Order: sequence, then C-alpha cells, then structure tokens
Amino acid sequence: MPAAIDIQDVEKTFRKKVRALRGVSMQVDPGQIFCLLGPNGAGKSTLVKILMSVIHASRISGTMLGMPIGHKETLRRVGYLPEHHRFPAFMTAEQALHFYGSLSGMRRANRLKRIQAMLELVGMAAWRKHRVGTFSKGMQQRIGLAQALLHDPELLLLDEPTDGVDPVGRREIRDLLIHLRNDGHTILINSHILSELETICDQLAVVVKGRVALEGTIDELTSDRRRWIVAYEGSGPEWTDEETRQDGRNTQVILPGASANDVQPVIDRIRGAGCSIIDVSEVRESLEDLFMRALELAGEDAATPGANKGRPT
Ligand SMILES: Nc1ncnc2c1ncn2[C@@H]1O[C@H](COP(=O)(O)OP(=O)(O)OP(=O)(O)O)[C@@H](O)[C@H]1O
Ligand SMILES: [Mg+2]
Repeated sequence: MPAAIDIQDVEKTFRKKVRALRGVSMQVDPGQIFCLLGPNGAGKSTLVKILMSVIHASRISGTMLGMPIGHKETLRRVGYLPEHHRFPAFMTAEQALHFYGSLSGMRRANRLKRIQAMLELVGMAAWRKHRVGTFSKGMQQRIGLAQALLHDPELLLLDEPTDGVDPVGRREIRDLLIHLRNDGHTILINSHILSELETICDQLAVVVKGRVALEGTIDELTSDRRRWIVAYEGSGPEWTDEETRQDGRNTQVILPGASANDVQPVIDRIRGAGCSIIDVSEVRESLEDLFMRALELAGEDAATPGANKGRPT
C-alpha cells in the first residue's frame, strides 16, 4: 500500500533567516499512528502546517494520500487539529462545528448527524449550546478534536491534541486514537507527553533543529536494544559479568539482548542464594530513551528552544 505521507527534502526558511526545516524526509505508513517528536522549536508544527498548506515550504517534493502536497481536494480527506487553535469565542460549540464542517464541504444533514456524534465522542454533548469563549483550555481542545474528526477523514494530523486536557480526557483521547487506527485511519500526532504516546506509537520520527535525527517503526528502532531485567530482594550472589543496578533495597540484573532461555540460569542463581525474585520482564527502549538517543545523534546536549535560528548556510 502506498505511504499516507511521503515527503522528501522539505525545507522552510522564515523571513530569510530562520531555517525551521533543513531537508526533512519521512514516510508515514497507512493505518499507523506516527509520532512526530522533537524539542521545542524543532520544526514539527511548521511541517504539519506545510502538509495542510497553511504555510508554504521553501522546497518540497512528495505526496499526501497519493496526491501532491497542497492538492485542494485531497485536503478534504485530512483532519487537522492545529497547535494553539482559537475558535471564534462568540460561537457555541455546535455553531463552531457547523462553521468548520461547511468549510470542508459537508452538507447540512450530514453535519447535524456528525456534530452530535462527535460532541458525544469527545464528551462535550452537554455543552453544545455554550459559547466556545467560556470553555477551559481542555474543553476547547476537545472541540478542536471533534472539528478534526467531523468529516471522517482518512488521515488525521494532530498537533498536541492533549494539551491542557485532564488525565481522564487524555485517556479517552488515547483510546479514541487506538479505535480510529484500528478502523483504518492514519494518524500523525505531535506531543511532548511521551508516556502518553508510549503505548500507541507504531512509527516515529524525532526532529531536531529542522532535521530528522531518528526515524522508523518502534520494532525497528528497539529490536537490538531489548533486554531482560530480573529484580530481586535481599543480598544475592556476587555478579561479575552481568550489569546490575540498585533500586532501593532491590537489585536488578540487566541482560541486554538475552532470550527467555538465557534468563533461567540467572533466576536459578538468585533463588539458589536464598533471595526472592520480585520481577522478571523484557523491556525495550522507552520513547524517552529514543528521544534522548536522537538528541545525542544530532549532537545536542540539551534541547535548546529556537536553536535553529541563524542565517541559512
Ligand atoms: N511564522 C514564523 N515566523 C518566523 N519564525 C517562525 C514562524 N513559525 C515558526 N518559526 C520558527 O521556526 C522554528 C520551528 O518552529 P515550530 O513551531 O515548527 O516548532 P515545534 O517543533 O512545533 O516546537 P514546539 O514543540 O515548541 O511546538 C522555531 O525556531 C520558530 O521560532
Ligand atoms: Mg509545535
């Protein structure tokens, strides 16, 4: 199946001096949740805006849903939740959704049906007659999500969808994204809350200073860094070759690249020394680990906002 997004060498320079994107290439597979990660000012929102033709790239080649970037009819098949969006404050939730629904060419009868369903989906049905201007940040974000989903798009571009949303709402949004993905939608999501993406991310790209520092599926990126950890209580055997870590009163034995078979003799040794095993688990690199690895690859000690300012080189 062709990629949902396939872009090469995207460049964006603002006002001839801020090089926001410096040759970004990436492929988003259909039916996947693709996480676009990166420090503040890395260029994530700029890239999403370019895909939606909100701003124009200085250079781009590639496709979205099989058509060139910027193709108007194709944009109707995409749902977009912009960063820091502001709906007209005087509109009620329902009116705002009618407004955006008609902008994407939805007929009134369809809008009436979908608006009710989407407001229920994002937990805002009881607020449909209330003005958007009176909503909290998280409530506005829920309406933004309803707006992005209204026309049942094949591809969703969500720029920090859980910004300001409470923990229950975050979990609901996460469940909703999994449901949409299982239903065949493709989702590109940009968020700083890595723990929240951990269980839903299929593919990712980490953008640092306008370049892709790390990209791939979670399996590809973590397969050679999987490890087993055996944790036990008490003063156990002396370890020589194995890596160990102290976690409070517990000791963890870390076995990189091990199989379940390799773990058995370690368990036997610990039990033989009269200690109680408290956990045996296979772990992969977390998104946070991958994020840090990407920063290292990009030669960054720390994430410095706005670090890509400077004259084009
Ligand atoms: N309209 C603009 N004019 C000038 N510079 C801009 C403009 N929009 C973005 N930039 C700059 O481009 C760079 C990338 O910004 P962008 O908003 O894409 O980052 P981001 O990765 O989305 O960051 P964050 O995680 O903070 O949302 C930053 O240096 C920013 O200052
Ligand atoms: Mg952003």
